[in-house]
Amino acid sequence: MTKQRRIVLGVTGGVAAYKAAELTRLMVKAGWQVDVVLTEAGAQFVGPVTFQALSGRPVYTQLWSPDVSNGMAHIQLTRGADALLVAPATADLIAKAALGLADDLLSTLISARDCPLLIAPAMNRQMWENAPNLRNIAQLESDGVAILGPDAGDQACGEVGLGRMLEPEELMLHLEASFQPKPLAGRRVLLTAGPTFERIDAVRGITNSSSGKMGFAIARAAWEAGAEVTIIAGETAQVTPPGCRRIDVLSAQEMLGAVESEVDDTDIFIAVAAVADYYVLNPSEQKIKKDAHILTLELAPNPDILARVATRDKPPFCVGFAAESENLLEYAEAKRKRKHLPLLAANLVQNAIGADDNEVILLDDSGETRLPHGPKLDVARKLIAHVAQLYGKGKTK
Ligand code: CTP
Repeated sequence: MTKQRRIVLGVTGGVAAYKAAELTRLMVKAGWQVDVVLTEAGAQFVGPVTFQALSGRPVYTQLWSPDVSNGMAHIQLTRGADALLVAPATADLIAKAALGLADDLLSTLISARDCPLLIAPAMNRQMWENAPNLRNIAQLESDGVAILGPDAGDQACGEVGLGRMLEPEELMLHLEASFQPKPLAGRRVLLTAGPTFERIDAVRGITNSSSGKMGFAIARAAWEAGAEVTIIAGETAQVTPPGCRRIDVLSAQEMLGAVESEVDDTDIFIAVAAVADYYVLNPSEQKIKKDAHILTLELAPNPDILARVATRDKPPFCVGFAAESENLLEYAEAKRKRKHLPLLAANLVQNAIGADDNEVILLDDSGETRLPHGPKLDVARKLIAHVAQLYGKGKTK
């Protein structure tokens, strides 16, 4: 059983307060306990009853609340909490937090907290760019506070620019990331994901079955672990995890080109893409018309992107994937040796493609590690922990 998360959500006076209601719902849906603290201005936008109904718990609005048994809400609430998130956070709250002012329940909680503080600013673009606000943000960042966003886009005031609060779904991803250890802080991770597509003509091509789910789950897990992540993605509908750079490509040749232009200064390279083994030698510019004859396509082998990276002069720590349909361990270990990989993740093809779950066996110089069957994100987090451990050992040698 994993421990239930406890979050304190501070809601201040911005129109984005309505999104804090949805955020509360998502947190409760995730099985977390949410204590909402509403400032006086926040309550002008969304009333306490809404948050009370969504969280199923009392909502705190005042420093001097007679409902708290010892009258110490400002201390009690964050004790044992996993995080204090302020969303939306106004310029006023940000200024108070940067200065350490404590004149209402939320600002006092911030001063007296013993858990991580995350702040999701929401304000007009000019307020965001106001020099004192940017100074306050820089101060909070240097104090170790996580600043989430803001986003750019249409604003409630009709202007367009930076200052929108991140969407609730994205705030959830940041919160979940804040619970994860950071063994890859400061490391650069480059990743290939999804299938490649090799053109036959203007509308057709050869591709592999690959949803991209595993690759994107690993990208997210690497970002959660503190890494700077770049994904070289074949055609996939997967949403880019926050904090990850994404470069879209189509063919294996394009994927190789993108990897080669990004690989310098990379610490860890993880090849998850299902790269087509062959490309069509002379693809047609125009759509090929069907007739009664047999159509023969001439195919030439694609470059092995992973093997190219692994055999560079100073290769990054390279991780490969092997999807096999039989003799899993034997074939996978042979592949690991052939491609000069310190680590390879092996799985049975029929278990993986398009599914939300996966089961992999990790092979490295010290043997095999079986990761338990589970959701791809859980598998990805365990894989990243293993990568970080091996990478760390290599660095201390
Ligand atoms: N890979 C790559 N470039 C290729 C082919 C594969 O980078 N042209 C990477 C994949 O991303 C994966 C690993 O190499 O990490 C898979 O190895 P591969 O030899 O392609 O496996 P299979 O295609 O399963 O090989 P085989 O057909 O020999 O079983």
